[in-house]
Formats: sequence, structure tokens, C-alpha cells
Amino acid sequence: MIQLSGKPLITEAEIRARIGQMVIEIARDLQRQELLIIGILRGSFMFTADIVRVLYNNDMHPLIDFVFVTSYAGMESTGEMKLLREPSLNVEGRWVLIVDDILDTGRTMKYAQDFIKERGAEEVRSCVLLDKPGRRLVDVHADYVGFSIDDVFVVGYGLDYEGRYRDLPYLGVLEDHPAA
Ligand code: IMP
Ligand code: MG
Repeated sequence: MIQLSGKPLITEAEIRARIGQMVIEIARDLQRQELLIIGILRGSFMFTADIVRVLYNNDMHPLIDFVFVTSYAGMESTGEMKLLREPSLNVEGRWVLIVDDILDTGRTMKYAQDFIKERGAEEVRSCVLLDKPGRRLVDVHADYVGFSIDDVFVVGYGLDYEGRYRDLPYLGVLEDHPAA
């Protein structure tokens, strides 16, 4: 039986504090540029919104867009990437910050970086809340990483399991318990 662990892996307060630190880094590196943030739907919706709010408090006012990339069925990546929504803003000549929830095999981020570069962005940086370095199948790098975690299946704060748990304000672990 698949069950949400009783104890958060990362609490709401820990997420908030880490985003504050990440935005300081982003502002230090990128403040002079007009930034275009491209969030990868659906998993990054909460993280992107929180980053943008903290950027605002650091006097950064990026353009914001979303793309919809999908590859996942259940708890395993299928490896096949699909772009279900093009960016609506032109990325040509822009400094783009791609925001995603988690770097797992790396396929999604690699795919996003490639198509944004192909469309002529001047600079492409990447920001993820979570990184599972042990799961990487594609050579890809994120410039800003919130938390590195072990190979566990996490939900909450935008991340789902079959559409559920995205609304949790914290990150929890899904555990697979053998039926009693
Ligand atoms: P990648 O392409 O394998 O790096 O996977 C990235 C996508 O897989 C993320 O944007 C998530 O939507 C999903 N994913 C990977 N690991 C998890 C997890 O532990 N929980 C929920 N979704 C995950
Ligand atoms: Mg996702």
C-alpha cells in the first residue's frame, strides 16, 4: 500500500528559508539582466510562485512564463519527453531561468535547456528545488539547487503521485508498504 509518511521530509519553514538563500544567490548572479523565468508545469507551480515573490522583495521583476513538459507515469519515468505547451514569450536574446521541482533522471531539464537554447536564448540557467543526484541518467546540471535528497519518492509542494498531494505545503515521502 502506498502511503504518505507521517513526518515531513522538508518542512514549510525549511523550504521558505532555503528559497530566501537561493534568491540571494540568483540576485547576486543575475540582477543586472532582465530575467525571463520559465517554470515547468505542473510540478513547479508552487516553487515558481514562491521564488517570484521573494525576487520581488529583492527588487527583481522578471518576465514569467510556463511550459508544460511531461514524461511521467506513476513512480517511473518513461523516458519519452513531450512539450505540451510552447513558451508564449519569445526567448530569443533573453536571459532565461528555468525552474523545475526536481532533477531526477535529468531528462526533463536537459530537454527544456535544449529547446530554450534552440529558440535563441542568450543565457540559460536552471533552478530546481530538489535534486536526486543518485538517479541521474543524463548529464545535466542545475545552477541553483534547494536540497539534495536520497532516492525516495517525494510529494507535496507541487509534486504529485498520480495527480495527488500537489497541494501539501511541505515535502513528504511516499512509502510503499507491503499489504498486511
Ligand atoms: P526527470 O526528467 O527524470 O529528471 O524527472 C523530472 C520530473 O519527474 C519532475 O519534474 C517530476 O515531475 C517528476 N519526478 C521525479 N522524481 C519525483 C518524485 O520523487 N516525486 C514526484 N515527482 C517526481
Ligand atoms: Mg514535473
